[in-house]
Amino acid sequence: MDSRPVGIFDSGVGGLSVLREFRRLAPAESVIYFADTANFPYGPRPPADVRKHAFAVVNRLLAADVKLIIVACNTASAAAIADLREAFPVPFVGMVPGLKPAAQSSRSGTVAILATPGTLDGDLYSRVVADFGGERRILNLPGHGLAELVERGQAGTPAARAAIRETLGRAVADGADTVVLGCTHYAFLAPSIRAEFPGVALIDTSEAVARRAVAVLGELGLAAPADGTGTLDVIVSGDRSRFREAAERLGFAPAHEEALT
Ligand code: DGL
Repeated sequence: MDSRPVGIFDSGVGGLSVLREFRRLAPAESVIYFADTANFPYGPRPPADVRKHAFAVVNRLLAADVKLIIVACNTASAAAIADLREAFPVPFVGMVPGLKPAAQSSRSGTVAILATPGTLDGDLYSRVVADFGGERRILNLPGHGLAELVERGQAGTPAARAAIRETLGRAVADGADTVVLGCTHYAFLAPSIRAEFPGVALIDTSEAVARRAVAVLGELGLAAPADGTGTLDVIVSGDRSRFREAAERLGFAPAHEEALT
């Protein structure tokens, strides 16, 4: 048993989609959520740059004595997870676009992968395509500006719906019946995507990643005592009130449980 906190990080509010699932599955675990908003967005940055930021975030989380780190960002996982695992003596759980479940669920055989340029250009993604793409036709869709809309608290607005139509319209018309949400920010666009394209299946891996983290904690004997209630602290590298506002719009109520430090 280990009551130290779990660290979860992203470039901004996107990783809150993973945090939500993790807290639901493991309410006894304390969490420190790091939003690296000073360096948002990660998506268009060169991998070396994203890696540098990820290392800085991890160093800060380890200074707070976290016992496991969830890289709740596909772009940071693509750029840095192998190096993070090599550099730090703490277990990491990362994200990869959910091509495997998408390939299984697609009837039409055409799958759209919605992710940042950094994720789509990375080796991690190439390996996932080689391993699980099979005979599927895969349409890579870089979500230009989508994470920014979510970060500005505009998920669900007409502007977000217009951006979704613009990004996904051609792929859906071209036969894609399954869309992978390959960026944690996009989980918050799911209701708008469903409204725009009701026939399309969405693959969101946030629950699977949270489950994996719970399993790793169990396997390594790091789980918190089950009878406690975990705390939630948030560290924001950029403007705190902007982060708080966007998080509140996404249904998080920081006033109840978060100390912004
Ligand atoms: N949430 C990040 C991801 O999962 C990307 C957002 C950004 O571009 O910073 O890839």
